[in-house]
Order: sequence, then C-alpha cells, then structure tokens
Amino acid sequence: MTGPIISPSILSADFAALGEEVRAVSEAGADWIHLDVMDGHFVPNITFGPAVVKALRPHTAKHFDVHLMIAPADAYLAAFAEAGADTISVHVEAGPHIHRSLQTIRSLGKRAGIALNPGTPASAIEPLLDMVDLVLVMTVNPGFGGQSFIPSTLETIARIATLTKGRGIDIEVDGGITTETVGLAARAGANAFVAGNAVFKGGPAGYAERIAAIRQGAIQHGAMGSGAGGAVSC
Ligand code: DX5
Ligand code: ZN
Repeated sequence: MTGPIISPSILSADFAALGEEVRAVSEAGADWIHLDVMDGHFVPNITFGPAVVKALRPHTAKHFDVHLMIAPADAYLAAFAEAGADTISVHVEAGPHIHRSLQTIRSLGKRAGIALNPGTPASAIEPLLDMVDLVLVMTVNPGFGGQSFIPSTLETIARIATLTKGRGIDIEVDGGITTETVGLAARAGANAFVAGNAVFKGGPAGYAERIAAIRQGAIQHGAMGSGAGGAVSC
C-alpha cells in the first residue's frame, strides 16, 4: 500500500454492536482497525481485553492495530497475539522493561509499536528504534476519544520523522485527528492516522465519506505512506 493509512478507532463505535461496526468501517475504506485497550490504571478509563479482540477477528480481514494502554503489558502480549492482533503497540511510559516487551511482541511474530504520550520527548524512544515497526505519537492525553489535538506534538512527530528516516518505520498519530488536523500531522511526517470521533460520530451512513475526507486531507499535505506497515497490512 502506498499513501496514508487510515485506522478508525472503535473506541468511538457503538459498543453494543462492535462486530457490525468493524465490518462497516472495513467496507467503508478503513486500512487498519485501531483497538484501544485500557486498564483503568495506566490511563483513567477501562475498555476491553483480548477476548473482545478475538471476537472481532472474524468480522474483517483488515490489519488489527492494537494500542495497549496498560501497565504492566508483558503478561498479556501473548493473549493479544493469539487473539489476532497484527501490530501491538506498548507505551514507553508503561514500565522499566519496555525493550523486553518489544522483543516479546516480535518473538510472537507480530509487528511491534512504541507509543509515547504528549509529555514524553522523542528522545525517549530513540534507543528502541531497531526494535519497532511503528511509532505511535499520542496527539492527546490517552484515555478518551473526542479530545482536541495538542499542537506541541507536531514537534515530536517531526523529530521522530527525522530519527526514523529511511528505516521503514510507520509514524502513526492518535487523538484529535480531523479533516483539519490530519494535514498538520501529515506535513510533520506522519503516514498513519487514527481517527475515532471523526469517523464514527454521525453513524454508519457517513463512514465512507468521512474516511475519504481524512485520507484526502493527509494526501494534500504530503503523507506518502513511507513506513513499512502498508507492505504487510492487506
Ligand atoms: C485515546 C485513544 C484514541 C482515541 C482517539 O486514548 O488512544 O485511539 O480513540 O479518538 P479521537 O479520534 O476521537 O480523538
Ligand atoms: Zn489509540
């Protein structure tokens, strides 16, 4: 795949109909499906675990982009891999042995992602770049959908784009991505775009149109799909 990767976050979907929602965004043009796992400890919200990821797996062939906002993560990595995750991202802030977590994800045969919060400098992930296929830059504080994009994260995206240049690593942004902010993130160097509210708010009739509009916003501002993710995603 070339071009931007659009990864709708089901955090903003109808939780009473998640299978249908995953099917609907898949048919509406989503490249990946973003699954936000929260533990009420690392972040102040609770969502779902590997059983739900497993239950959703038969509903689409799309790449499952699993974002773990849990600490510790290590004890659950195998369960998410078995449930059908394709990329598993863990937070650099989630514990002292993040390098081991990334090793484990790769040893499970999955793509490894490293996520960082808006208050964490790009340099925090520099020693880990040989271990990752994706860097997930949080553009809001993690925990909830529907928040506003934090502009200072653009600098972090740009620094990570420099650090990862030519290494085939996807740069994904997550939080407050809209048809406006997607362009800012793309220009800074992101090639994968998580969108919750901007896709799901308004219901299924608008999914295709809203995904296309986000994609168009990214293309206009230069998202080239320069990472490695597209090659294995579909
Ligand atoms: C926030 C999650 C995001 C969230 C984004 O902690 O990681 O994936 O669903 O939602 P929007 O796009 O509505 O900001
Ligand atoms: Zn997320």
